[in-house]
Amino acid sequence: MKKIKAEFLKPFGPGILRGQLSNELLDNFTKLSEEVIDKKMKSWNPSLVGAIDDEWKIPELLYKDFKIDSFLDSVILGYTQGLYQDLQKFDSGYLKNNNIKEFNSEVVRGDGWINYMTEGEYNPIHIHSGCSLSSIFYINDYVGDEPIASKGNPNCEDGHTTFVYGSKPGGFQRKRYVRRDETGTYTETAKVQYFDGIHERGHWSIKPKKGEFYIFPAHLYHMVYPFKGKKKRITASINYGVNLNKK
Ligand SMILES: [Fe+2]
Repeated sequence: MKKIKAEFLKPFGPGILRGQLSNELLDNFTKLSEEVIDKKMKSWNPSLVGAIDDEWKIPELLYKDFKIDSFLDSVILGYTQGLYQDLQKFDSGYLKNNNIKEFNSEVVRGDGWINYMTEGEYNPIHIHSGCSLSSIFYINDYVGDEPIASKGNPNCEDGHTTFVYGSKPGGFQRKRYVRRDETGTYTETAKVQYFDGIHERGHWSIKPKKGEFYIFPAHLYHMVYPFKGKKKRITASINYGVNLNKK
């Protein structure tokens, strides 16, 4: 058979970058979070929707002190370079209207904070305003000592982060048939099962993994479920602004 040219397109939906911190960077993040909780310089609680007592702003100087400033800038830049290639492909309007064929992206760090989540606390569904992108860094992977309910349920999402984008039934398989025979009835030979709902997801739940991080559009809804246990679930969130400059 002769080969044809084809391209897989994904013009809709948010792009999410997942990465894993090196041991050195994770160590730096951990020390930074300890410093932030130790000094408790500025409570960021009033600026956030989370039902969490210990949310503390990361002072700007600490990014440099703990050697994560240039890493943060470069990983955000990497996100923009990967994703914004597609902006040109799908004509975002902004690029076309401004006749921008080639561009540099400029990234500017915004507010960042450390969350120390304890038993029963939670972060309701929310977006981050006043920025382009946001991020979550898992300083540890604590999700409780035991499930809040339904012990043994493999779908337990206590302490998970869930991203929400629409209401598509992700991963649902319908037991239906796609083909009937000429008489309009389902004969054994015509029975061909099909999958429904696996081609686009409406939500995605992430179990915290120590050192893992996610970069995502700031408008993407997300939330964190509560957990049952005596330790703290520790994460950092840092917002970024992105600007596109004509080359
Ligand atoms: Fe958030």
